[in-house]
Amino acid sequence: MKPFTLFVNGEELHAPVEMANAPLAAFLKTTRFKSVKIACGEGGCGACTVALVEQSSEGGAPSLRTINSCLAPVYSVRGKSILTAEGLPPAATAAATAAATPATAGGPAASSVVVERLAAHHASQCGYCTPGFAVACHAALHNAANGCSGSSSNGHAHSNGNGCSSNGGAAAAESAPLLDGEGLRRALDGNLCRCTGYRPIVSACRSVGVADIEDLAGPPAAGAALLLPPRAAAAAAATADDVEEVALGAGQVLKVPRSLAALVAESGRLAAAAASAAATGSFSSWRLVAGHTGPGVYKDWPLAESVLLSVNEVPELRRLQQTDDGLVVGGAVTLEALAAHLDGKLAAGGGGGGVGSVGGGVKEWAAETAAHLRRIAGTHVRNAATVGGNLVLTAEAALPSDVATLLAAAGAEVELLLVSSDAAAHGVSRRMPLLDFVSGGGAAAKPAAGGYILTAVHVPLPHHGVRFWSQRIAERYSNAAAVANAAVSLRLQPAADGAAAGGATASVVAEARVVVGVRTDAAAGGGVAAARNAAKETDPTVVLLYGWDVRRLTAVEAALAGAPATPAALAAALAAAAPDLAAIDGVDAATAAIAEGLVVQGIFAAAGVTTATANGANGAAAAAADVAAPSRLPPPELVAGTQSYPAPLPEVAPVTEPTIKLGAKLQATGTAQYTEDVPVHKGALYGAYVMGAKAGAVLEAIDATPALALPGAVRFVGAADLEAGANGSNGYGYTFANRFEALRPGAPPPEPIFLPAGGRVEYAGQPVGLVLAESAAAAHRAAKAVQLSYRTAPSSSTTTSTATATNTTTTDAPPPPTVEPITPLLDIESALAARALYPLAALMPWLPAGKSLAPGPMTLAPFNGDVDALLAAAGAPPAAAAAGLPPPPPPAAEPPADGGSSSGEAAAATANGSSSSSSGDANGSSRERKLRVVRGRYYTPSQLHVYMETQSAVAAPEEDGGMTVQSACQGTDVIQGSVAAALGLPLSKVTARCRRLGGAFGGKATLSRRVAAAAAVAAAITGRQVRLQLPRNADMVLNGGRADCRVDYVAVLEEQVGEVEQAAAPTTAAAAAASHVGPTRWRLAGLDVFVAAAGGAFPDIAWLDAMGLCAAVDSLYDIPHMRCEVAMVRTNLPPRTAVRGPGEVNGTMIIEQVMEHVAAELGVNPEAFRAATFLQLPPSTAAATTAKTVTTATDNGTAAAAAPAGPSEADVEAEAGPADAGAVAEASTTQPSSAAAAATAADGSDQSKKEEEVLVLKTAFGKKIPAPLYTLPRLWHKLMREAGWEAMQAEVDAFNAAHPWTKRGLAALPARYGMQRGNKPAYVNILTDGTVQVACHGIEMGQGLFTKVAQVAAATLSEALPPANRPMDLSNIKICDNSSELLPNSGVTGGSTSSELAAAAVRLACLQLVDILKTKAVPKLKGKESFTWKELVAATSGGWGPANQLGAFAWGGQADLPEASGAEAAAVPTQTDYSVIGVAGALVELDVLTGERRVLRADILFDLGRPVNPAVDIGQVEGAFVMGLGMMLSEAASYDQSAEEAGGGTGALVQNSTWHYKPPAAACVPAQFNVTLLDDAPLSQAGPISSKACGEPPLLLSTAVLMALQRATAAARADAAGGCSADFVPLIAPATVQRVRTACGDWNAAERLQKAAAAAATAKAGK
Ligand SMILES: Cc1cc2nc3c(=O)[nH]c(=O)nc-3n(C[C@H](O)[C@H](O)[C@H](O)COP(=O)(O)OP(=O)(O)OC[C@H]3O[C@@H](n4cnc5c(N)ncnc54)[C@H](O)[C@@H]3O)c2cc1C
Ligand code: FES
Ligand code: FES
Repeated sequence: MKPFTLFVNGEELHAPVEMANAPLAAFLKTTRFKSVKIACGEGGCGACTVALVEQSSEGGAPSLRTINSCLAPVYSVRGKSILTAEGLPPAATAAATAAATPATAGGPAASSVVVERLAAHHASQCGYCTPGFAVACHAALHNAANGCSGSSSNGHAHSNGNGCSSNGGAAAAESAPLLDGEGLRRALDGNLCRCTGYRPIVSACRSVGVADIEDLAGPPAAGAALLLPPRAAAAAAATADDVEEVALGAGQVLKVPRSLAALVAESGRLAAAAASAAATGSFSSWRLVAGHTGPGVYKDWPLAESVLLSVNEVPELRRLQQTDDGLVVGGAVTLEALAAHLDGKLAAGGGGGGVGSVGGGVKEWAAETAAHLRRIAGTHVRNAATVGGNLVLTAEAALPSDVATLLAAAGAEVELLLVSSDAAAHGVSRRMPLLDFVSGGGAAAKPAAGGYILTAVHVPLPHHGVRFWSQRIAERYSNAAAVANAAVSLRLQPAADGAAAGGATASVVAEARVVVGVRTDAAAGGGVAAARNAAKETDPTVVLLYGWDVRRLTAVEAALAGAPATPAALAAALAAAAPDLAAIDGVDAATAAIAEGLVVQGIFAAAGVTTATANGANGAAAAAADVAAPSRLPPPELVAGTQSYPAPLPEVAPVTEPTIKLGAKLQATGTAQYTEDVPVHKGALYGAYVMGAKAGAVLEAIDATPALALPGAVRFVGAADLEAGANGSNGYGYTFANRFEALRPGAPPPEPIFLPAGGRVEYAGQPVGLVLAESAAAAHRAAKAVQLSYRTAPSSSTTTSTATATNTTTTDAPPPPTVEPITPLLDIESALAARALYPLAALMPWLPAGKSLAPGPMTLAPFNGDVDALLAAAGAPPAAAAAGLPPPPPPAAEPPADGGSSSGEAAAATANGSSSSSSGDANGSSRERKLRVVRGRYYTPSQLHVYMETQSAVAAPEEDGGMTVQSACQGTDVIQGSVAAALGLPLSKVTARCRRLGGAFGGKATLSRRVAAAAAVAAAITGRQVRLQLPRNADMVLNGGRADCRVDYVAVLEEQVGEVEQAAAPTTAAAAAASHVGPTRWRLAGLDVFVAAAGGAFPDIAWLDAMGLCAAVDSLYDIPHMRCEVAMVRTNLPPRTAVRGPGEVNGTMIIEQVMEHVAAELGVNPEAFRAATFLQLPPSTAAATTAKTVTTATDNGTAAAAAPAGPSEADVEAEAGPADAGAVAEASTTQPSSAAAAATAADGSDQSKKEEEVLVLKTAFGKKIPAPLYTLPRLWHKLMREAGWEAMQAEVDAFNAAHPWTKRGLAALPARYGMQRGNKPAYVNILTDGTVQVACHGIEMGQGLFTKVAQVAAATLSEALPPANRPMDLSNIKICDNSSELLPNSGVTGGSTSSELAAAAVRLACLQLVDILKTKAVPKLKGKESFTWKELVAATSGGWGPANQLGAFAWGGQADLPEASGAEAAAVPTQTDYSVIGVAGALVELDVLTGERRVLRADILFDLGRPVNPAVDIGQVEGAFVMGLGMMLSEAASYDQSAEEAGGGTGALVQNSTWHYKPPAAACVPAQFNVTLLDDAPLSQAGPISSKACGEPPLLLSTAVLMALQRATAAARADAAGGCSADFVPLIAPATVQRVRTACGDWNAAERLQKAAAAAATAKAGK
């Protein structure tokens, strides 16, 4: 059989027939063009983006059509020309290359302009997403430059429909970006990046301007040939048969008819063959194929049929034809082609006009429809997905379709050709309303699935006077399925009397069509989704589906008919919407409310009513006024705003320079190698996990026989192989990751590598074994065929699943039952009730243990002061009691019964609402105290890592029985230890290696050992190399993410007698939260917090969450009495582990929520309350202390400088300006007890002496911050001043008063991240040519560690050179891959510590070499005053090699550096731990009716000391903040609890795919993103390494976005309540659209509009 020919980057390649059905990406991975990444395999991330080079029949330059190569099967691109990142044409002008990229950036010399810009803008961190972005950007820019269809330029290029215009954007201004606004948003909408925060990617793409068009095309001679090889064109043209037949191997055939007649004939033959095969009991099947994107949604939908019949080459199905009836859209027209047609051919259509002129028509319809179509999926999906495929999936598989809603509202009909084995019935054409087709309604039933070809959609073009509007609401603006969508078409006609009403010239609605689509539960609507979801019983990786309901709102339509287009009449007609929507089977209340909101917006907009009466929120004045009608939010703007960081210091160069990340261009061109690119030998095996599907069930038996019968399957490896003993143990050993087990006898056993038959499935997804096969695809196919039998509680019935395996071809005999099935504990409540707890206190004995949970010290409870005494005085129960735990004796008071958020006075309430107490004063004072209590319950969410590169390892047996494992890991030690334990080998016989990671975020710190050990076990057993790389769904299911928490808090406020009078308080808490009132006379005297964190079924390192939470929850506030008790429950969920900022982000969310709640209850502005509660520098000592000598970031770092440190009080006041003077005055009146605490240690050392001299602030839990390094006051006031906080707040207030249906929220907060310093190894070798090999412990995972280490190595070694010859060239430095052979005992890279630590250790090693060079080599240069690095190294040479030692090993950290002690030391002692301090403000906007939200602005200020590489660091800050944004807004993770009757659900992760799980995309990033690294930060030590950790701390600040949104919802509720009362309602993260809508209040939009209209009418009548 003939292989498939395709042309990749101009090179002719041949794909074997066996790969016919494999994704194009999988084939490319077997070639030298490996840049594509299969990060999701479902069209959701764009890491696999390639471009098809297409020549239009109209001529002109070829266009580039991007597609997802993970979805396109190889056969679908046969004969086509494909461009990957490696093939992007090199920039035509060498000047562009040289200017954009210094030599040190590494990578190929001649890169494309896009690659150059991505590197120059620091847009590649881990680099895993970068090739996909490079292709997406290049294609969009190329098309924009050439005016191709689908390109969406900044308006410079003119589209000619299908091809490219010849003059492109030549007329546009030279400096203008080729893409911006909508065009740029679309260019990037199909790609995800988990690292960068998108700004650099957006900037890079935006930076390509009209002046770069030549560079985009490549060198004049090569460009055209590269893009469209003549052979490709020839091959494409060669097949002109009526039906092309292509053998796909294994008896499968692809048929490609080239006319409708041929399609009809072929389908008839196939139907007849299938019928006769069925009659004879044989098997023959066929399927229509179009864009092949369906499997992106319905994964595991193999192209298994014996005949695939393509509709793509049938001209009738590709037509876009305008007839007298309207527009005919062929079934095979892609979504992007339809949108382009609407832009191009119809944009100039009739209609238009504004309110009152009726207007509307084709132009408006085309614009609305095109804009909505372009919000479906991402560009690359839309470029392949067809209209027919979409509608068929909607009809047959409950696809949440936007196409159906849009076209149904336009009144479209589908044209079907019936397919039947009955010749008489076959080929009959039928038309039916599109809505009936997709919803199964209407008079005539839809033909059965497979019984038709959707040939076309007939869309009547709207007449002048028909107004059209549509919108969709989704978890994310782009590339997310709709939660609800709606389209409204109204035919308006001028009112008979022409009267003016409602701010518009009245029209009358003559006819209405209102279509909505809503997400339902899977069981609704015939349960199509539920039927598909049934597979979860056997396969936890199955992508679960919701249901979908699309319908017309006929009651609303009827009410609208004849109604005048006035607010009052529209509101009255809308009354029918809510009941109709709420009655939809399986819809939840929030989704129904969102759909109602869409309908409200749509009807007002389509009716042309742009003003509506106010809703009465702001009294009579507003009620009488017209305000903006309910309308949708505008599309988000792509990120802009400022970046600011300290200028480089030449003295320490290249340290402090914003050097381009090493390998950036390698990453952008896709030539950088990851673990998946490690070559394997011929004969290597590929593994796929078999996973337990039912948490709590006992795995009774494993039968791999069916799997091993499949082609390519070789073997099953399971627990039986390990328990035989010869191959080691079924465990990872007691490593860092499972200290729990080691510490506590009786604790749950450690996680086995494979669950044995007879064992209990502790979580859905638990590995049972590996199927090994000759290819990855064969392994995954076979793994799903393994049969697992379960016994579940409580029925003890045995069920068999089709997904598991056993040893070789035998079945694992079930051992006698030793464990019983359980009802799984799938949430905190049930685990807490069962007292399933991890022994936190035993694990972390250095932290105080709590008492609330017995037996034994189970909880952590750091504290200060006497919380119990304070609570007793306030008559408040402890937080643990509120959490439902028995209160510690003696009980102080009963908690209020409601258990929810509350505030109130205690038993002895006085007339002014406070409680009085003259006893129990925690400070021993006898004065009468007035106390108030604020209590609440809160939740912090889980979050998954979603690193772009999934877990991956390659294991190879060694000659001596040892094992070498290449692993995508955060520490080769962890892999070495785990593999050694699993195989029973000494550590010395195991080598672990890693080059780079495609992101990690904590997820590869310990969880990587599972994949590595499993691969190693398989390799040891088979004696063959084994590669194991997890598919996205398996990766998400297996790895549990961060621990979610349930939080109960009790805050006690004490009145400050004789202090600042409380400003006039607003009448309600919510109004106060939305206003700017403060400060208050109440002070936060104490806080008691009880946290129950959800650990997984095995501990892993989830305990870090508990530790981090305790470390961050006291933040930077002065709270004299505070306790935070943390329990970690053991659930039957996948092991929870560290995720960027583990625990610290939860701690920050908790304390900031307390601040918000307390401020709301007090009726004061939260920022003012925060500022008043900050740890304060006593005014008398602040100036004196901060005048001590401290180096600052802008000083020469090689010696301690005598520059001023943190701001003096005067500095702060001056900086704050008049607006902040009040807050400063307030701050200066407070004398917190902790502020006076100075270091007392005095052991005579330099450090101790310094500690004595320097005032040290202490946080509530005792974290010391030397006053000179306490930059919070300065950061805060800088934020307030530079952001113009007062003015912003006033604007928000004014906006909210004027916009009943849109609300804004503004919040600012601080964060403190505690850092530990340690010691690490480093090994540096100078080679005889002057190049330098550096081995450090840290792993490069995108954080720029290698780049920073190289900068420090270069700067340090340069100290051997004369000052004039410094620094040496950075290109001399090569950072080695991590290897346990080269640098064992390296530990884990994580906790943000590694960059500084690695740099310090490398500097220590380099200093040894500097010493040698100075003493041994420099003298040989005989007094030369100037010499280069190479000359110096040459001076070390001897006869047969170097005469001197040129290698040095060091073990140490920052505290060991010479500048940390002795004469060079700074005034502030180098601490073993330190705090990273930052502040952020966020401005958000929400749509009250639909819960849609936008982050309009974020301002971040960070004190990162003096960054080694500020460009890298600012990238970390932005990336972390945006990752936090996902946690706050969209990254919902939940576990299947649906099958209660079957024992509590499978417990499998629901959001196990990119279809459901939504990390931020480019359009989610704050539109204005201002990020500043303090440029004169005080430094704790001199020298080149004076930076602070930056990888995780900024994530904490994303809490500001949630708080701002919470305030916006409070404003919405206050409005709904007429502005008079609104309780504090916590907004729980992630604040999904449903949660936001719910938090905006439980009201009916139509009712509110009606009331407002009536009030307005009354007000007008009264005038
Ligand atoms: C990541 C992602 C996100 C998405 N988001 C959205 C979204 O937000 N909104 C939305 O509306 N859609 C969304 N989709 C769905 C997408 O629009 C559909 O996958 C697509 O339209 C299907 O078209 P296709 O040509 O690829 O169909 P295919 O996958 O080729 O086929 C799908 C099914 O339709 C059948 N079929 C195809 N053409 C015909 C025909 N002419 N006659 C009869 N049967 C036919 C096939 O036999 C097959 O059963 C998303 C898809 C992906 C991958
Ligand atoms: S790998 Fe193809 S879109 Fe994610
Ligand atoms: S750089 Fe984008 S995912 Fe890492």
